[in-house]
Order: sequence, then C-alpha cells, then structure tokens
Amino acid sequence: MTDALYAAAPADPAAWVARLDLAMTVDGADAPAAGRAPVLDPASETVVATTPVADAAGTEAAIEAAHRAFPAWSRTSWEHRRDRLLAYADALEAAKQDLSILLTAETGKPLRRALSEVTVGIIYVRTIAGQVLPDRDYTKSSGGSARLVHRPLGVAAAIAPWNGPVVLGLAKVANALLAGDTLVMKPSPFTPLTALLMGRIGRNVFPAGVFNVVAGDGDVGQVLTSHPLVAKVSFTGSTITGRKIAVAAAPTLKRLTLELGGNDAAIVLPDADLDRTAAMVFGTAFAGAGQFCAAVKRLLVHRDVHDALRDRLVALAEGTSVGPGWDPAHHMGPVQNRAQYQRILDLTAEARAAGGRILSGGPIDGPGFFLRPAIIEGVGPGIRLVDEEQFGPALPLIAFDTTEEALALANQGDYGLGGSAWTRDIAAGVALAEQMDVGSAWINQHGAFSAELPMPFARQSGLGMDYAEWGVAEHSRAMLINVA
Ligand code: NAI
Repeated sequence: MTDALYAAAPADPAAWVARLDLAMTVDGADAPAAGRAPVLDPASETVVATTPVADAAGTEAAIEAAHRAFPAWSRTSWEHRRDRLLAYADALEAAKQDLSILLTAETGKPLRRALSEVTVGIIYVRTIAGQVLPDRDYTKSSGGSARLVHRPLGVAAAIAPWNGPVVLGLAKVANALLAGDTLVMKPSPFTPLTALLMGRIGRNVFPAGVFNVVAGDGDVGQVLTSHPLVAKVSFTGSTITGRKIAVAAAPTLKRLTLELGGNDAAIVLPDADLDRTAAMVFGTAFAGAGQFCAAVKRLLVHRDVHDALRDRLVALAEGTSVGPGWDPAHHMGPVQNRAQYQRILDLTAEARAAGGRILSGGPIDGPGFFLRPAIIEGVGPGIRLVDEEQFGPALPLIAFDTTEEALALANQGDYGLGGSAWTRDIAAGVALAEQMDVGSAWINQHGAFSAELPMPFARQSGLGMDYAEWGVAEHSRAMLINVA
C-alpha cells in the first residue's frame, strides 16, 4: 500500500484537507464551532487547515451528550462493545489512506510512518477489543460467597498529544468504550485533524453521544478535567500538564491515567552486538524525529566500545534523509512545532557551550522545522540535554566505566518511563534491567510497546497503567458483591 499512498499524496494538501470539511463530533453529529484556529504544516510552515474549536459551552455540551449516552451504553454486554470496536477498526481500515495523508499533513512525518501509525492504531483497537476483565470469586472463612466484578465509571475524557495523535487517541477510545464508559476526546491543538476524522468515522459505528470529539487548547482541557460529570481522565503529554490535570481533577476525585514524559537511558555493555545495537538505538532515538515518549534519550556506552558505537551512529545519522513527509526519499520529517524546534536548538547550543562535540545534525535551511539527527559526545549530567526530556532529534552519548556508574546515571532524575540494556549476555541484561527505576525495561530493544502488554510507569513518568487488560481496568471500577 505504501507506493499507492505516495502516489496519492496531494499536490495541494490544504485543498485536499479542506475538501473533507472536518467538524467536531458531539451527539453523533457535526457540532457547532465557537471559532476556528489555524493548523500549521510543520514541513512548510503554512496553514494546512483551520480547525473548528469549542468554547466552554461547546465542551460542556459534549460532556452532557456523553452523560446522556452512558446509561444505555454501560448496560450493553461486553461482547456487544467488543464487536462495535471491531466494526470501528474495520471502518478505520477503510479510511486508512485518508487518515495517513491527514496525519502527514498535521505532523509532517513521512507518509510510510503515518501509514504504520494508522496500521498500529487499528491493531491496538482490535487487540484492546479482545481484552476481558474476569470476575473473581473469593473464599470467605465465614462461608457465603464474595465476587469482585467490574463496572464502568461514567464519562471519560481523553486528552492526546501531537506526536502520535492516531495511535494514542485510538488506544484511549478502545479502552474507554470497551469498559462501558462514554468518551469526550480532545486532540492537541497542533494536530486536531486526524481526531476529527476518527470522530466522524465513529458516528456510523457507535450510538450518538458514546464517542465525542471536541477541539481546542488547554482551556478546553481544563473544562474536561474539572467538570463534575467527568469521572475519568486519560492523558498523554508533558509531566507539567499532567500535574495540572491532577490538581483540576482532585476536587471530584476523578480516576486518572497519566502517560507523561521520559528521559530513557539505554545502557550499552562492552559485549553488545554493535551493528545491531547502533541500528536499533538509532531507530528508537530518532523515531518520529525523536518525538516519542520512550525514545532513547540518553545513550550510556561502555568506554571500551564508545568510539566504535559512536562512529556507527554518526554514519547512520549522515545517511538519514530529512525532508517533507510527502517525498518517499525522506526517512525523517520535521519537528512538529516551532517551540519544540527552538528547544532542540537551545539544548544543543547549551551542550556545545558546555564542551559537548556535535558530530552530526543541525537545522536545514528553508521553511519547515527540519533538524538532521544530532549525535553529541563529551557531555554528562548538569546540562539540560542530559537532565531533561529533549523530545527531538538530538542524542547525547555518555561514556561509563562500570555498570554501577551506568545504573546510577540511568536512575537519575524524576522520570521513570523506560530503560534498556544491550548485551549478548541476556542474563546480565535482565539483571541490569531489574535494577532500573522504570516502568518498562527492555533488553536488546527499546520503546517496544504493544497493546497486548501492560505499560506501567515509575516515578513522575505517569500514573496508572495502560494496555493489555490494565488499560481497560483503568476505565472501570471494581465492585464487591458479598453474600452472607
Ligand atoms: P502538553 O502536555 O502541554 O499538551 C498535551 C495535551 O494537553 C494537549 O492536548 C493540550 O491541549 C492539553 N492541555 C494543555 N494544558 C492543559 C490543561 N491545563 N488541562 C488539560 N489539558 C491541557 O504538551 P505540549 O505543550 O504539546 O508539549 C510540551 C512537552 O510535552 C514536549 O516538549 C514534550 O517534552 C512533552 N510531550 C510528551 C509526550 C509524550 O508522549 N510523553 C507527548 C507530547 C509532548
């Protein structure tokens, strides 16, 4: 399908998007917009579309629609909701080409990457649809019976970021609707277009009010996260916004799933397969131009293999073609927005001023937030590129001498999303992984998520757990039925 997709790439993306006449979805129909906001194509810095946006009243209307739809939807059987989600996955499949083109229009990512995000998103919907939350019987020493069952929570709010708007949005839809919750989803103001189409596709599959999509910025987010009729918030984005959401949700004690930032370290031991490690680490560090929650963000390399791995990474960086996502020649697209672009430039400049050597990378002249992949050596803790989440195509390499030193570095800071060990000795890799203060520890891979496997969080990288049956459980409450 990839060749056909590139052949279908629009010559004028703005005209192509305008033809879709996208609208917000509330109560199964187009919702009136309070205004319109520009959506910038990060590859050209031109307006690719204007999106309808909701105000507080429009957001409340969506919450009320979801609240009205909840009693009937929550009483449907688990199998019914599973089948509706499978039908939704089929409907998304039929719209795969449009979703992929829209995703490239709003994120700039290469079309083949957009297609794989849409494909993975659909797989996630099907995988989550297949989850079950079995009742559990308990034995009581006093006799009688006790059964733990699962009940939906009510109206859920899903707030999504701009790096993976399709896959992250669809997982939230599937978790909420399978559990029996109804949903109001708000995409990032940078990338609202795919979510608007996902909402429209849902109208033919779910009863009115079950799946609503409103667009807007943090103000809409604040209405969603503080409204008394919202019982649950599922959020993916920055740790700073996650904290604000926890505060907004506190007065009504909403259930929260927060997938926040990370500053993942990969630890490369001296016996690692360097060709494979270089290729895999490079792929994960620069996936989505580094804008991936569990990208490798700090590469800790044993001094004995530091230079050999570094040279391989620099060669891979130099062989990476960066440019507009519509052109099949390019492997990597732009950074999604100007603030993020400027942040990477600032962090890199600061690393250089601190004595770091920038071995590759740098901005590309012309319009668009394009940065070639940067490999930076000779840095360590104490600079922001190492201490903070860069969320862009700039990878610091840090040499270490002992495993203890590497572990201490890996476990530094407030984040604990993921970490990895790279070695031919799997037992040694597992032993190292077990000491990482993270939600997911990988051996000879990194950022390998799947909707079949749970995604836990450590420290300030998140709250709750996503995927497998856990993501659905987070949209449910447990209830005990206790018979004398
Ligand atoms: P953000 O966390 O500010 O925005 C994410 C979503 O939250 C958007 O839909 C936004 O409109 C919404 N939002 C903002 N303020 C809100 C509030 N007070 N209440 C409710 N919702 C609110 O992320 P942003 O500004 O787009 O990116 C900033 C940084 O976040 C990046 O530099 C990156 O480090 C990190 N980030 C991490 C992601 C991840 O996957 N872990 C994804 C995107 C960003």
